[in-house]
Amino acid sequence: MEAEIGLIGLGTMGSNLALNIAEKGHDIAVFNRTTSKTGAFFEAAGELRSNIIPCTSLEEFVQAIRPPRPIILMINAGQPVDDQIEALKPLLSHDDIVIDAGNANFRDTMRRNGVLDGTGLNFIGMGVSGGEVGARHGPSIMVGGAEASYKRIEQVLLDISAQYEGQACCAWLGENGAGHFVKTIHNGIEYADMQMIAEIYGIMRDGLGMAPKDTAPVFAGWNEGRLNSYLIEITAAVLDTEDAETGKPIVDIILDRAGQKGTGRWSAIEAQQLGIPATGIEAAVAARSLSALKDEREAAEKAYGSLGEALKRDAALLEDLELALLAGKIAAYAQGFAVMSGASADYNWNLPLPEIARIWRAGCIIRSQFLSTIADAFEGADKETNLLVVPAFVEMMREAQAGLRRVVARAAAAGLPVPALSSALSYFDMYRQGRGTANLIQGQRDYFGAHSFERIDKPGAFHGPWGISAI
Ligand code: 6PG
Repeated sequence: MEAEIGLIGLGTMGSNLALNIAEKGHDIAVFNRTTSKTGAFFEAAGELRSNIIPCTSLEEFVQAIRPPRPIILMINAGQPVDDQIEALKPLLSHDDIVIDAGNANFRDTMRRNGVLDGTGLNFIGMGVSGGEVGARHGPSIMVGGAEASYKRIEQVLLDISAQYEGQACCAWLGENGAGHFVKTIHNGIEYADMQMIAEIYGIMRDGLGMAPKDTAPVFAGWNEGRLNSYLIEITAAVLDTEDAETGKPIVDIILDRAGQKGTGRWSAIEAQQLGIPATGIEAAVAARSLSALKDEREAAEKAYGSLGEALKRDAALLEDLELALLAGKIAAYAQGFAVMSGASADYNWNLPLPEIARIWRAGCIIRSQFLSTIADAFEGADKETNLLVVPAFVEMMREAQAGLRRVVARAAAAGLPVPALSSALSYFDMYRQGRGTANLIQGQRDYFGAHSFERIDKPGAFHGPWGISAI
């Protein structure tokens, strides 16, 4: 048997993706640097073994795939990818395609594209979202690279991706780094979504004194409404789970220090590079960094006393919490899509925003119904359009913003931290303020640095009569 495709890296994501490919009827060759892992994977593959060729050397692996060979790398991002490409290069032939399916930095993907350009080898940077279950049964797949290379692997990818109402959650999004860039922004939005949910949980826990088992049904209830999404669903599940060892709610014994592998941070950095405000993502990244300062936080709590005053629990507050999450979510998604729109222009990708929203509706971590509304909003709209001014979202935001305002105000007064929600509110308030306060900034800049300013009543660059001179 000759394999149709190959995969290197049988970690959790790689093994699951390989099984998914085999299950969809595509013969696949697999290789892992630690060969015992390859054996164990093959043993465990059961009846799918007939579609899998386990290989113990890179040479054997390459020979097992029918040329021109598509080879998926599902290995750690960074140097390992460069090393793997170098090791493969002498074994590959003209037209073979190397597909990096890890969480790569899109700048690395662009560089690798450039390095392989003209060598006869092709490179695809492919974002894969959905965790291990997604990889096994249908992830959301964001592809970047030459469209012709994508076309050659399209059928396999369409077959293994998640389906939303019969539509595959997989698309070619643009040249070189487009797929990995979109995956990065997906993760940035994921961070913002998760942080805002955690802030609402914090208000319930520290402001309202609710036990996890009382908060779980609230989230589960919201999951039936406009907030319906995978992240809200798993929030209810996590809050409702007991630790097997102690019998306590598991969330009460998990240390409050969040990890981060980098993609959220890259989103914030890219937003800053592009000069596009993404305050929700930035606040979420900063909140993870603050969470890591466990010792410092404990020391500061001793210095200041614990914050958080009991809030009065009433039905209205719980309703406001739901509205606050909705409004915060709208702002964060508006920011994420604005960053993609800016990057699309900067990198000449022509990113299809409605298509991106569509392929995020199933399979990925931020999957939700809400993304259908976003897809509709961008359909036919100008790429530069901010979601906040699309009629469907104006209507939602008009209703939800008052709840967000009350929640942020009450949380601030009670000393409960809500960095992502409050940044969403400030973003919204600044975005909808026709006349802002940057006129003063311009006055200050001109005063101390003669940077000049524009006037509202005539065109040109002007200086103020400050009466100061460097001479
Ligand atoms: C996904 C996830 C996945 C992974 C993140 C988590 O879309 O399937 O985003 O890519 O879970 O890398 O990132 P952190 O470790 O930074 O939270």
